[in-house]
Amino acid sequence: MAAPTPPGSDRSPSAGTTGAHKAWAGVFREATDKRVEAFSESISYDQRLADDDIDGSIAHSSMLAHTGLISQAEAEQIATVLEEIRQEIRAGRFEFTAAKEDIHLHIESALTARLGDTGRKLHTARSRNDQVATDLRLYCRRAIDRIDRALQELQRAFFSLAEREQGLVIPGYTHMRRAQPVLATHQLLSWCEKFQRDRQRLADCRVRTNILPLGSGALAGTSLPIDREAVAKTLGFAGVAANSLDGASDRDFVCELAFVLSLAAVHLSQWAEEWIIYSTQEFGFVRLPEGFCTGSSIMPQKINPDVLELVRGKTARTIGNVQSLLVLLKGLPTAYNRDLQEDKEAIFDSIDTLEAMLGVAAPLVAGTSFDRERIAATLERGHLDATTLMEALIAEGVPQRTAHETVGRLVRRAMTKGVALAELADEEFLADCKEWKASLRSALGASRAVERMVSFGSTAPARVADQMKVWRQRLEAAAGT
Ligand code: ARG
Repeated sequence: MAAPTPPGSDRSPSAGTTGAHKAWAGVFREATDKRVEAFSESISYDQRLADDDIDGSIAHSSMLAHTGLISQAEAEQIATVLEEIRQEIRAGRFEFTAAKEDIHLHIESALTARLGDTGRKLHTARSRNDQVATDLRLYCRRAIDRIDRALQELQRAFFSLAEREQGLVIPGYTHMRRAQPVLATHQLLSWCEKFQRDRQRLADCRVRTNILPLGSGALAGTSLPIDREAVAKTLGFAGVAANSLDGASDRDFVCELAFVLSLAAVHLSQWAEEWIIYSTQEFGFVRLPEGFCTGSSIMPQKINPDVLELVRGKTARTIGNVQSLLVLLKGLPTAYNRDLQEDKEAIFDSIDTLEAMLGVAAPLVAGTSFDRERIAATLERGHLDATTLMEALIAEGVPQRTAHETVGRLVRRAMTKGVALAELADEEFLADCKEWKASLRSALGASRAVERMVSFGSTAPARVADQMKVWRQRLEAAAGT
């Protein structure tokens, strides 16, 4: 594919293509300035809408035939040639030039070059404004479906790792300080929950994306007899935009999608950050697959978590894109304004970035294992069982504030001695806690503490097994669809 002329690359006089070559040139007396062509082109990035543009045009022309605006034979010729053009674009045999602005004009002019007047009828009852809005919705809809599948793959990877690491107790952290023990399985499923919400948001965003703007015309609809429902049906849209002014210019779906993707990226970034920490020599909780690490050009011993760092780093641009899109829209009066052309690079970048991130995240998770010995070696450090002991006292009738203070004193005693709570003698417990009895020892130790967390959604093995069952069914059901 020939790239369009980049701005400033042509030092020759500024006269561009003569006006006569442009689809909209009738009223013009002067040719477009070459600098304007370079400045205003979108073909360098909207070529990726080619498939959707062709799908939209075929659906549109078949509707034009069915309402009698063109003949059946003409619609068939248009469809055949558009399919030829599709193949040429796919094969890289189609020439793109800034003079033809965007993908819509490229395809239409190629069609007209081959079909003459029949090609010149395709744009009947259509404007580039409702055309580009339609193309972008089709493109985003496909992206939503792909990303949903990729998120599901990632959930499967976390679920499989959770299955492999069943029974493993790890320290849970708040404020990056040891807090309470949890099952590794429980924590791995917590990522599945986040990605499930991302998928729900995608599905919800898809509902508003899946509305057909075509037929809105430039802004006011059309005086010609069209059948918008028929086009919606052909293209798989669930409905048609009800207001032509809004239909041609609504980009809410782009902003929404950018946000949904940025939040999914934020989840990936949080996970990446956690595993960067987990995989340090200091923590040593997880072993990352070496194929997903990179080395240093100067320090021969380094095995760096660059993939996770880039997942974290690339999240920034997805957040920036949400900002760009909102700012792009905020000053626009009713209906199409050319500013809207700037929506594409932002949303394409978010889609590309998230797909790239998901493409490495799932196999990285699949190749990771937890270092059980290393985790077990320090599990009893940090008094992870303090809260369970406090709750055991509460269960014995001690008021919560009293139990909290008592256990606080016991922890201080253990800290001073440099031992775990379970290593304190009964007399030491009794010195701070008059309710102390030997049976309370069953609350001590990380594994026993985990077993006691039995409320719904908690980390006890039985509760986590319930959740594993839910996830197994959910992921199997999704695989069957
Ligand atoms: N390339 C344009 C865009 O992306 C297509 C619509 C142009 N419409 C117009 N009236 N100039 O928004």
